[in-house]
Amino acid sequence: MPDADGMKEAKKFYTDIPQKTEGFFLKGSNSYDWGMKNRLARIFNPETGRTVMLAIDHGYFQGPTTGLERIDIDILPLIPYADTLMLTRGILRTIVPPSVTKPIVVRASGGSSILKELSNEEIAVDVEDSIRLNVCAMAVQVFIGGEYEKQSIINMTQLVDMGTRYGIPTLAVTAVGKQMARDARYFRLATRICAELGAHYVKTYYVEDGFETVTAACPVPIVIAGGKKIPELDALTMAYRAIQEGASGVDMGRNIFQSDSPIAMIQAVRAVVHESETPEKAYELYQTLKHELAQV
Ligand code: R5P
Repeated sequence: MPDADGMKEAKKFYTDIPQKTEGFFLKGSNSYDWGMKNRLARIFNPETGRTVMLAIDHGYFQGPTTGLERIDIDILPLIPYADTLMLTRGILRTIVPPSVTKPIVVRASGGSSILKELSNEEIAVDVEDSIRLNVCAMAVQVFIGGEYEKQSIINMTQLVDMGTRYGIPTLAVTAVGKQMARDARYFRLATRICAELGAHYVKTYYVEDGFETVTAACPVPIVIAGGKKIPELDALTMAYRAIQEGASGVDMGRNIFQSDSPIAMIQAVRAVVHESETPEKAYELYQTLKHELAQV
């Protein structure tokens, strides 16, 4: 039985201090429910408001991508340096130990291979399985201007509806067809449509001209994909510019796992994202770490 007298006399009510109603640190996310916010706060570091997501989901449409042939050998050692891991449920269940406590973003769309029309996707993971896997977000490809544009948008809105029931955010991944212009105008259109229709955050590509208008016009956080492998300094420069121009992080794959030294590269990317380190300084860090790791 609780001590009734003690309760009456309880001391720490701080009646002179009103409870704070804090805003949430993440762009556009203040009105979500607790579980949704908590998952987002695991993906995005509340201290910096940013994230380094390691993207290794490429196999869902292109099989054993260069650098991802043996995820158990080459990728597991990178996990401690990532804020978040983005991958398919197949790789999660078969290769990633359940003792890994990093937040998981599960690839939740699929249905086409590189041999066919890529925009012809459907939702490929049930929300119940996402819950079973304890994921922090579900990722869906959205093909604005693509052959199956409408279907991919509806995939996204259905995931948003299912995820919202259980407090699981949806990451909309803007996919660009080969024949489409990768410019700020296109990405403003694509990212804004995703956010308007409910995506909790959006992945897109960096463009040199006008990227700040893409982030400004999108009411939810944007993370950038790395794209094809480029020299390390160039990739760090791209990440730096994206962050300075309003991105909330990276969801980077090939420019990390196809690097000469993936462990060094992911740490250099972290310095750019979380410490706003310049590309030159981050590249120095990359070279130092690469050298040290080569001695081991
Ligand atoms: C591509 O469809 C996958 O979703 C990747 O997660 C995405 O492209 C990011 O990887 P990368 O940095 O290699 O472009």
